[in-house]
Amino acid sequence: MMDGTIGIIGGTGPAGRGVAARLAKAGYDVVIGSRDAGRAAEVVGAMAAPSEGSIRGLSNDDAALADVVIVATPWDSAVATVKALRDQLAGKIVISMVNALVREGRELVPIYPSRGSMAGQLATVLPASRLVGAFHHLPAAQMEDLASGLDADVVVFGDDAPSREVVAALINEMPGLRSVVAGTMSLAGAVEAFTAVCVSINIRHKAHSYVKLEGLGN
Ligand SMILES: NC(=O)c1ccc[n+]([C@@H]2O[C@H](COP(=O)([O-])OP(=O)(O)OC[C@H]3O[C@@H](n4cnc5c(N)ncnc54)[C@H](OP(=O)(O)O)[C@@H]3O)[C@@H](O)[C@H]2O)c1
Repeated sequence: MMDGTIGIIGGTGPAGRGVAARLAKAGYDVVIGSRDAGRAAEVVGAMAAPSEGSIRGLSNDDAALADVVIVATPWDSAVATVKALRDQLAGKIVISMVNALVREGRELVPIYPSRGSMAGQLATVLPASRLVGAFHHLPAAQMEDLASGLDADVVVFGDDAPSREVVAALINEMPGLRSVVAGTMSLAGAVEAFTAVCVSINIRHKAHSYVKLEGLGN
């Protein structure tokens, strides 16, 4: 098990709560961050109390003080949010789960930020952090419901191989998840854009499917 705490910036939304629930189940102490610490405390109070680890609701600043930090804000506020926390995030593994998607009728479609991906955008404003991408394709509600039977793969990418491996190992400790390291930040745009395919399939088929890759062996 990795030493230290895990913070989630923008963690009060469904995505952050889902990741927090499974990190706590793996035994980690998690800080859900918010622009409003009071709101974070309320959100955590409404979540199922973790049987292992802990989940606290605090500010985004507090979440950024954790040892590993996950970014879970909407895409259009992610860059400004992490830029303001750049000093606290320096030297740390920062995990982006941010997808840049817009709704068009019954579909979600990807949009491509200037660096080709949200992870690329965040890496640009956090040059002293070790950016890793993960958690993009996960269905939030099933993540938070530990009894949902989720058995999903999590595609991991990043340019710093040791950081990628730390995140992959962390994910493998989370119940219902298996990490699959894909490669470098060059894949970020493709991984994030595929989320649009996943969500559009779920809308069209009124389903809660998730990604499971076959043929990988153990
Ligand atoms: N939902 C999913 O199934 C899922 C799965 C995988 C990845 N993702 C990605 O994870 C991210 C979060 O998804 P979500 O569904 O949880 O989103 P969300 O509920 O819309 O937003 C998450 C949190 O971000 C904060 N936030 C909202 N607007 C903000 C702003 N202008 N500036 C700073 N913070 C702001 C809010 O927290 P406070 O008001 O408490 O500050 C909010 O609770 C997205 O980038 C999404 O693409 C989502």
